[in-house]
Amino acid sequence: MLADGRLLSNVVASQEVHAKWGGVVPELASRAHQEHIVPVVMEALDAAGLGKHDLTAVAFTRGPGLIGALLVGACFARSMAQALRIPLLAVDHVQAHIMAHFIDDGDGRPSPGFPFLNLTVSGGHSQLVLVRSPLDMEVIGSTLDDAAGEAFDKGAKVLGLPYPGGPLVDRYAREGDPRRFPLPKPAIPGLDLSFSGIKTAFVALVNREERYRPGFKEAARADLCASLQAAIIDHLMAKLRRAIRQYGVARIGVAGGVAANSGLRQRLQELAAREGVEVFIPPLAYCTDNAAMIAVAGRHLLEAGRTAPLDVVPLPRTN
Ligand code: KG4
Ligand code: ZN
Repeated sequence: MLADGRLLSNVVASQEVHAKWGGVVPELASRAHQEHIVPVVMEALDAAGLGKHDLTAVAFTRGPGLIGALLVGACFARSMAQALRIPLLAVDHVQAHIMAHFIDDGDGRPSPGFPFLNLTVSGGHSQLVLVRSPLDMEVIGSTLDDAAGEAFDKGAKVLGLPYPGGPLVDRYAREGDPRRFPLPKPAIPGLDLSFSGIKTAFVALVNREERYRPGFKEAARADLCASLQAAIIDHLMAKLRRAIRQYGVARIGVAGGVAANSGLRQRLQELAAREGVEVFIPPLAYCTDNAAMIAVAGRHLLEAGRTAPLDVVPLPRTN
Protein backbone atom coordinates (compact mmCIF):
# COMPACT_ATOMS: atom_id res chain seq x y z
CA MET A 1 0.00 0.00 0.00
CA LEU A 2 1.24 3.48 -0.90
CA ALA A 3 -0.08 6.83 0.27
CA ASP A 4 1.20 9.94 -1.54
CA GLY A 5 4.15 7.86 -2.71
CA ARG A 6 5.07 6.72 0.81
CA LEU A 7 5.12 2.99 1.56
CA LEU A 8 2.54 1.95 4.16
CA SER A 9 2.77 -1.83 3.82
CA ASN A 10 4.40 -4.48 1.65
CA VAL A 11 3.26 -8.05 2.26
CA VAL A 12 4.91 -10.92 0.41
CA ALA A 13 3.59 -14.49 0.63
CA SER A 14 6.45 -16.95 0.57
CA GLN A 15 5.91 -19.85 -1.81
CA GLU A 16 7.53 -22.83 -0.10
CA VAL A 17 5.84 -25.12 -2.60
CA HIS A 18 8.63 -24.37 -5.13
CA ALA A 19 11.39 -25.59 -2.81
CA LYS A 20 9.56 -28.89 -2.39
CA TRP A 21 9.53 -29.52 -6.15
CA GLY A 22 12.98 -28.14 -6.96
CA GLY A 23 11.64 -25.33 -9.15
CA VAL A 24 8.51 -23.43 -10.08
CA VAL A 25 5.69 -25.76 -11.16
CA PRO A 26 3.27 -23.42 -13.01
CA GLU A 27 0.11 -25.18 -11.86
CA LEU A 28 1.22 -25.07 -8.23
CA ALA A 29 2.23 -21.41 -8.53
CA SER A 30 -1.30 -20.54 -9.73
CA ARG A 31 -2.89 -22.46 -6.87
CA ALA A 32 -0.61 -20.78 -4.34
CA HIS A 33 -1.60 -17.38 -5.76
CA GLN A 34 -5.28 -18.33 -5.52
CA GLU A 35 -4.81 -19.38 -1.91
CA HIS A 36 -2.79 -16.34 -0.84
CA ILE A 37 -4.31 -13.42 -2.67
CA VAL A 38 -7.19 -12.55 -0.34
CA PRO A 39 -5.29 -13.02 2.95
CA VAL A 40 -2.29 -11.07 1.58
CA VAL A 41 -4.41 -8.11 0.47
CA MET A 42 -6.25 -8.10 3.81
CA GLU A 43 -2.96 -8.22 5.71
CA ALA A 44 -1.56 -5.34 3.62
CA LEU A 45 -4.66 -3.24 4.37
CA ASP A 46 -4.44 -4.07 8.08
CA ALA A 47 -0.74 -3.27 8.26
CA ALA A 48 -1.42 0.08 6.56
CA GLY A 49 -4.32 0.80 8.90
CA LEU A 50 -6.68 1.13 5.95
CA GLY A 51 -9.98 -0.36 4.87
CA LYS A 52 -10.69 -1.28 1.27
CA HIS A 53 -12.92 1.77 0.83
CA ASP A 54 -9.92 4.01 1.48
CA LEU A 55 -8.24 2.80 -1.71
CA THR A 56 -8.06 5.22 -4.64
CA ALA A 57 -6.57 2.84 -7.25
CA VAL A 58 -5.40 -0.76 -7.61
CA ALA A 59 -2.24 -1.83 -9.44
CA PHE A 60 -1.46 -5.37 -10.57
CA THR A 61 1.21 -7.19 -12.61
CA ARG A 62 0.06 -7.59 -16.20
CA GLY A 63 3.16 -9.59 -17.21
CA PRO A 64 5.55 -10.99 -18.21
CA GLY A 65 5.24 -14.14 -16.13
CA LEU A 66 3.42 -17.43 -15.77
CA ILE A 67 -0.06 -17.09 -17.23
CA GLY A 68 -1.87 -18.96 -14.43
CA ALA A 69 -0.41 -16.77 -11.69
CA LEU A 70 -0.96 -13.60 -13.75
CA LEU A 71 -4.61 -14.53 -14.31
CA VAL A 72 -5.22 -14.82 -10.58
CA GLY A 73 -3.80 -11.33 -9.97
CA ALA A 74 -5.52 -9.76 -12.99
CA CYS A 75 -8.95 -11.20 -12.15
CA PHE A 76 -8.64 -10.13 -8.53
CA ALA A 77 -7.52 -6.59 -9.38
CA ARG A 78 -10.19 -6.17 -12.09
CA SER A 79 -12.90 -7.27 -9.66
CA MET A 80 -11.60 -5.00 -6.95
CA ALA A 81 -11.44 -1.98 -9.27
CA GLN A 82 -14.95 -2.68 -10.51
CA ALA A 83 -16.46 -3.24 -7.05
CA LEU A 84 -14.78 -0.19 -5.49
CA ARG A 85 -15.16 1.96 -8.65
CA ILE A 86 -11.49 2.92 -8.63
CA PRO A 87 -8.91 3.03 -11.46
CA LEU A 88 -7.09 -0.12 -12.50
CA LEU A 89 -3.35 0.06 -13.27
CA ALA A 90 -1.70 -2.67 -15.35
CA VAL A 91 2.00 -2.79 -14.50
CA ASP A 92 4.86 -4.33 -16.48
CA HIS A 93 6.74 -6.60 -14.08
CA VAL A 94 10.22 -5.96 -15.46
CA GLN A 95 9.74 -2.19 -15.43
CA ALA A 96 8.41 -2.48 -11.89
CA HIS A 97 11.67 -4.14 -10.76
CA ILE A 98 13.39 -0.92 -11.83
CA MET A 99 10.90 1.16 -9.85
CA ALA A 100 12.19 -0.60 -6.71
CA HIS A 101 14.84 2.18 -6.65
CA PHE A 102 12.08 4.66 -5.85
CA ILE A 103 10.27 2.89 -3.01
CA ASP A 104 10.03 5.50 -0.27
CA ASP A 105 9.89 3.72 3.07
CA GLY A 106 11.25 6.70 4.96
CA ASP A 107 14.84 5.47 5.35
CA GLY A 108 16.13 8.38 3.25
CA ARG A 109 18.39 6.36 0.94
CA PRO A 110 19.18 8.06 -2.36
CA SER A 111 17.57 6.96 -5.59
CA PRO A 112 19.23 7.33 -9.01
CA GLY A 113 18.63 10.51 -10.99
CA PHE A 114 17.56 10.20 -14.64
CA PRO A 115 18.79 9.00 -16.99
CA PHE A 116 20.40 5.86 -15.56
CA LEU A 117 21.34 2.46 -16.85
CA ASN A 118 19.65 -0.44 -15.11
CA LEU A 119 20.83 -4.01 -14.96
CA THR A 120 17.74 -6.10 -14.21
CA VAL A 121 18.70 -9.61 -13.16
CA SER A 122 16.17 -12.03 -11.72
CA GLY A 123 14.96 -15.59 -12.06
CA GLY A 124 12.93 -14.67 -15.13
CA HIS A 125 14.74 -11.76 -16.76
CA SER A 126 18.17 -10.36 -17.57
CA GLN A 127 18.14 -6.99 -19.24
CA LEU A 128 20.06 -3.78 -19.66
CA VAL A 129 17.63 -0.90 -19.69
CA LEU A 130 18.20 2.79 -20.33
CA VAL A 131 15.82 4.54 -17.95
CA ARG A 132 15.03 8.11 -19.02
CA SER A 133 12.02 8.50 -16.72
CA PRO A 134 9.60 6.19 -14.88
CA LEU A 135 7.57 5.79 -18.04
CA ASP A 136 10.35 6.00 -20.61
CA MET A 137 12.53 2.90 -20.55
CA GLU A 138 14.46 1.43 -23.46
CA VAL A 139 15.67 -2.16 -23.37
CA ILE A 140 19.17 -2.00 -24.91
CA GLY A 141 20.19 -5.60 -24.18
CA SER A 142 18.39 -8.77 -23.22
CA THR A 143 19.18 -12.42 -22.61
CA LEU A 144 18.83 -14.61 -25.67
CA ASP A 145 18.11 -17.70 -23.57
CA ASP A 146 18.17 -18.22 -19.79
CA ALA A 147 18.02 -15.48 -17.17
CA ALA A 148 20.97 -14.97 -14.81
CA GLY A 149 18.96 -16.23 -11.82
CA GLU A 150 17.98 -19.30 -13.81
CA ALA A 151 21.66 -20.08 -14.42
CA PHE A 152 22.30 -19.85 -10.67
CA ASP A 153 19.25 -22.01 -9.90
CA LYS A 154 19.97 -24.68 -12.52
CA GLY A 155 23.63 -24.86 -11.51
CA ALA A 156 22.54 -25.24 -7.89
CA LYS A 157 20.10 -27.97 -8.84
CA VAL A 158 22.77 -30.19 -10.42
CA LEU A 159 24.73 -29.80 -7.15
CA GLY A 160 21.69 -31.11 -5.29
CA LEU A 161 20.92 -27.77 -3.61
CA PRO A 162 17.29 -26.79 -2.91
CA TYR A 163 15.38 -24.22 -4.97
CA PRO A 164 16.00 -21.32 -5.33
CA GLY A 165 19.70 -22.13 -5.36
CA GLY A 166 21.06 -18.64 -6.06
CA PRO A 167 21.46 -17.60 -2.41
CA LEU A 168 23.18 -20.93 -1.57
CA VAL A 169 25.60 -20.68 -4.49
CA ASP A 170 26.41 -17.20 -3.21
CA ARG A 171 27.08 -18.54 0.29
CA TYR A 172 29.29 -21.51 -0.77
CA ALA A 173 31.12 -19.38 -3.35
CA ARG A 174 32.58 -17.24 -0.57
CA GLU A 175 34.81 -20.15 0.48
CA GLY A 176 35.64 -21.39 -2.99
CA ASP A 177 38.25 -20.86 -5.70
CA PRO A 178 36.60 -19.20 -8.73
CA ARG A 179 39.49 -20.21 -11.02
CA ARG A 180 39.39 -23.97 -10.37
CA PHE A 181 36.76 -24.77 -13.01
CA PRO A 182 36.98 -22.36 -15.96
CA LEU A 183 33.66 -22.04 -17.80
CA PRO A 184 33.06 -20.67 -21.31
CA LYS A 185 32.72 -16.94 -21.87
CA PRO A 186 29.57 -16.34 -23.93
CA ALA A 187 30.44 -14.74 -27.29
CA ILE A 188 27.30 -12.72 -27.89
CA PRO A 189 27.58 -9.54 -29.95
CA GLY A 190 26.40 -6.16 -28.71
CA LEU A 191 24.64 -5.76 -25.39
CA ASP A 192 22.62 -8.96 -25.43
CA LEU A 193 23.31 -11.62 -22.84
CA SER A 194 23.36 -15.42 -22.77
CA PHE A 195 23.65 -17.86 -19.90
CA SER A 196 22.76 -21.21 -21.43
CA GLY A 197 26.36 -21.95 -22.52
CA ILE A 198 27.66 -21.42 -18.97
CA LYS A 199 24.85 -23.53 -17.54
CA THR A 200 25.29 -26.38 -20.04
CA ALA A 201 29.07 -26.48 -19.54
CA PHE A 202 28.64 -26.45 -15.76
CA VAL A 203 26.04 -29.25 -15.75
CA ALA A 204 28.18 -31.35 -18.12
CA LEU A 205 31.28 -30.81 -15.94
CA VAL A 206 29.50 -31.82 -12.73
CA ASN A 207 27.87 -34.90 -14.28
CA ARG A 208 31.11 -36.05 -15.94
CA GLU A 209 33.26 -35.69 -12.82
CA GLU A 210 30.60 -37.21 -10.62
CA ARG A 211 30.51 -40.32 -12.83
CA TYR A 212 34.25 -40.92 -12.36
CA ARG A 213 34.48 -39.69 -8.80
CA PRO A 214 31.24 -40.20 -6.88
CA GLY A 215 30.96 -37.58 -4.15
CA PHE A 216 32.80 -35.02 -6.30
CA LYS A 217 30.01 -32.47 -6.25
CA GLU A 218 29.95 -32.39 -2.46
CA ALA A 219 33.74 -32.41 -2.11
CA ALA A 220 34.22 -29.62 -4.67
CA ARG A 221 31.04 -27.72 -3.84
CA ALA A 222 32.61 -24.41 -2.79
CA ASP A 223 34.94 -24.28 -5.83
CA LEU A 224 32.10 -25.27 -8.16
CA CYS A 225 29.84 -22.55 -6.75
CA ALA A 226 32.62 -19.96 -6.92
CA SER A 227 33.42 -20.90 -10.54
CA LEU A 228 29.78 -20.78 -11.62
CA GLN A 229 29.19 -17.46 -9.88
CA ALA A 230 32.35 -15.94 -11.36
CA ALA A 231 31.36 -16.96 -14.90
CA ILE A 232 27.88 -15.44 -14.53
CA ILE A 233 29.19 -12.23 -12.97
CA ASP A 234 32.05 -11.87 -15.51
CA HIS A 235 29.51 -11.94 -18.32
CA LEU A 236 27.21 -9.42 -16.61
CA MET A 237 30.11 -7.07 -15.86
CA ALA A 238 31.49 -7.27 -19.41
CA LYS A 239 28.11 -6.23 -20.84
CA LEU A 240 27.61 -3.56 -18.22
CA ARG A 241 31.02 -2.00 -18.97
CA ARG A 242 30.26 -2.02 -22.67
CA ALA A 243 26.88 -0.34 -22.09
CA ILE A 244 28.41 2.32 -19.81
CA ARG A 245 30.93 3.26 -22.51
CA GLN A 246 28.40 3.10 -25.34
CA TYR A 247 25.80 5.28 -23.63
CA GLY A 248 28.09 7.39 -21.46
CA VAL A 249 25.93 7.01 -18.38
CA ALA A 250 27.05 8.14 -14.94
CA ARG A 251 24.54 6.20 -12.86
CA ILE A 252 23.91 2.45 -12.70
CA GLY A 253 20.95 0.76 -11.05
CA VAL A 254 20.73 -2.94 -10.30
CA ALA A 255 17.41 -4.67 -9.65
CA GLY A 256 15.93 -8.18 -9.45
CA GLY A 257 16.68 -11.07 -7.12
CA VAL A 258 20.25 -11.61 -8.36
CA ALA A 259 21.11 -8.08 -7.13
CA ALA A 260 21.27 -9.79 -3.71
CA ASN A 261 24.43 -11.65 -4.81
CA SER A 262 27.40 -10.61 -2.69
CA GLY A 263 29.95 -11.32 -5.43
CA LEU A 264 28.04 -9.15 -7.89
CA ARG A 265 27.75 -6.36 -5.32
CA GLN A 266 31.47 -6.39 -4.72
CA ARG A 267 32.28 -6.28 -8.42
CA LEU A 268 29.83 -3.39 -8.85
CA GLN A 269 31.57 -1.41 -6.13
CA GLU A 270 34.90 -2.00 -7.89
CA LEU A 271 33.35 -0.93 -11.19
CA ALA A 272 31.96 2.22 -9.58
CA ALA A 273 35.40 3.16 -8.28
CA ARG A 274 37.18 2.38 -11.56
CA GLU A 275 34.72 3.86 -14.06
CA GLY A 276 33.63 6.77 -11.87
CA VAL A 277 29.95 5.84 -11.94
CA GLU A 278 27.48 5.78 -9.08
CA VAL A 279 25.82 2.43 -8.31
CA PHE A 280 22.36 2.08 -6.75
CA ILE A 281 21.02 -1.21 -5.37
CA PRO A 282 17.72 -1.28 -3.48
CA PRO A 283 17.50 -3.09 -0.13
CA LEU A 284 17.21 -6.87 -0.60
CA ALA A 285 13.50 -7.02 0.21
CA TYR A 286 12.86 -4.71 -2.76
CA CYS A 287 15.24 -6.56 -5.12
CA THR A 288 13.22 -9.77 -5.04
CA ASP A 289 9.59 -9.81 -6.16
CA ASN A 290 7.46 -7.54 -4.00
CA ALA A 291 4.23 -5.56 -4.02
CA ALA A 292 5.78 -2.17 -3.25
CA MET A 293 7.52 -1.95 -6.63
CA ILE A 294 4.22 -2.69 -8.41
CA ALA A 295 2.52 0.07 -6.41
CA VAL A 296 5.25 2.62 -7.26
CA ALA A 297 5.06 1.73 -10.97
CA GLY A 298 1.26 1.92 -10.78
CA ARG A 299 1.38 5.37 -9.23
CA HIS A 300 3.29 6.72 -12.23
CA LEU A 301 0.73 5.22 -14.60
CA LEU A 302 -2.05 6.82 -12.57
CA GLU A 303 -0.38 10.23 -12.62
CA ALA A 304 0.02 9.97 -16.39
CA GLY A 305 -3.65 9.02 -16.76
CA ARG A 306 -2.70 5.61 -18.15
CA THR A 307 -5.38 3.53 -16.46
CA ALA A 308 -6.36 0.10 -17.79
CA PRO A 309 -9.81 -0.95 -19.03
CA LEU A 310 -11.65 -3.37 -16.76
CA ASP A 311 -11.35 -6.13 -19.39
CA VAL A 312 -7.54 -5.87 -19.58
CA VAL A 313 -5.90 -9.31 -19.98
CA PRO A 314 -2.49 -10.52 -18.76
CA LEU A 315 0.50 -10.47 -21.10
CA PRO A 316 2.63 -13.54 -20.29
CA ARG A 317 5.36 -12.37 -22.70
CA THR A 318 6.39 -8.89 -23.76
CA ASN A 319 7.76 -9.87 -27.16
O1 KG4 B 1 13.39 -11.07 -8.73
P1 KG4 B 1 13.14 -12.43 -8.20
O2 KG4 B 1 12.69 -12.55 -6.77
O3 KG4 B 1 12.06 -13.19 -9.00
C1 KG4 B 1 11.85 -13.11 -10.38
O4 KG4 B 1 11.15 -12.18 -10.83
O5 KG4 B 1 12.40 -13.99 -11.05
O6 KG4 B 1 14.48 -13.25 -8.43
C2 KG4 B 1 14.65 -14.57 -7.98
C3 KG4 B 1 16.00 -15.06 -8.46
C4 KG4 B 1 16.21 -16.56 -8.24
O7 KG4 B 1 16.72 -17.11 -9.44
C5 KG4 B 1 17.24 -16.61 -7.11
O8 KG4 B 1 18.06 -17.74 -7.14
C6 KG4 B 1 18.04 -15.36 -7.40
O9 KG4 B 1 17.07 -14.40 -7.75
N1 KG4 B 1 18.80 -14.93 -6.22
C7 KG4 B 1 20.16 -14.97 -6.15
C8 KG4 B 1 20.51 -14.52 -4.84
N2 KG4 B 1 19.35 -14.23 -4.16
C9 KG4 B 1 18.33 -14.48 -5.03
N3 KG4 B 1 21.06 -15.31 -7.06
C10 KG4 B 1 22.36 -15.23 -6.70
N4 KG4 B 1 22.78 -14.83 -5.49
C11 KG4 B 1 21.91 -14.46 -4.53
N5 KG4 B 1 22.34 -14.06 -3.33
ZN1 ZN C 1 10.54 -10.47 -10.68
